[in-house]
Amino acid sequence: MSEQSAPTLQDRFAATNGDHQSLWKSLWDAGNYLPWDRGHSSPSLVDLLNDNPSLITPSSSEKKLTALVPGCGRGYDVLLFASHGVKSFGLELSPSAVKAAAENAKTSGLNPDLYSFITGDFFTTSWQGEGEGGVPEKFDVVYDYTFLCALDPSQGLRELWAKRMAELVSGGGVLICLEFPLYKDLELPGPPWPLREEIYKGLLENVGFVREMYVKPRRYLESGEGSDMVSVWRRS
Ligand SMILES: C[S@@+](CC[C@H](N)C(=O)[O-])C[C@H]1O[C@@H](n2cnc3c(N)ncnc32)[C@H](O)[C@@H]1O
Repeated sequence: MSEQSAPTLQDRFAATNGDHQSLWKSLWDAGNYLPWDRGHSSPSLVDLLNDNPSLITPSSSEKKLTALVPGCGRGYDVLLFASHGVKSFGLELSPSAVKAAAENAKTSGLNPDLYSFITGDFFTTSWQGEGEGGVPEKFDVVYDYTFLCALDPSQGLRELWAKRMAELVSGGGVLICLEFPLYKDLELPGPPWPLREEIYKGLLENVGFVREMYVKPRRYLESGEGSDMVSVWRRS
């Protein structure tokens, strides 16, 4: 009798009728199959922020910078930005992910005023709104890792991602991309859907971002097979 192997993440997405948002939510609701969750931030982002403090230093002592991490999962990167004193927001489609992120944050010892986890769809604006404790319309820093690659290119979502990034990053602010997966054959299914330097460039230059840094990280997660790159995009 042959043993059936468990379906991969790619199998599960291929088996949907294209409703990927429901699948992300049900994976988080079940909570027992989250293969992308590494339990910590990528050391590539840790090093970038330590080596380039100007990316997260406000221009005046009165101003506190804000950061957004779309598709933040358990929120490790949100807490990393918060640990640098940046008021940080994590956005997740899934209420269960937001709950898991809030639980995880409790163990961080960080001041809860410095971070916030929000349920919402990146492609809508309904999760934003100024006011007491509100979520800003624009952010000084937005970080993308394993979010663009979680969007199916055949659904036209990459162009919408770029357009939305241009709306969300404030003038003079930056979008930081930890580019992944750059090693993966372009024909292979996702998530993660394969990416390339040229794809990021095409998408982001088209909406007015200028790339001001492109570096090979000295430390990286094994999942990138040594090909991850860090790009920093300035919004004029
Ligand atoms: C591959 S996971 C990465 C999670 C996290 N960045 C990490 O590295 O652990 C992609 C995440 O994006 C979330 N997501 C997908 N589409 C989204 C959308 N339209 N708005 C907000 N979050 C979304 C999913 O729920 C999922 O948690």
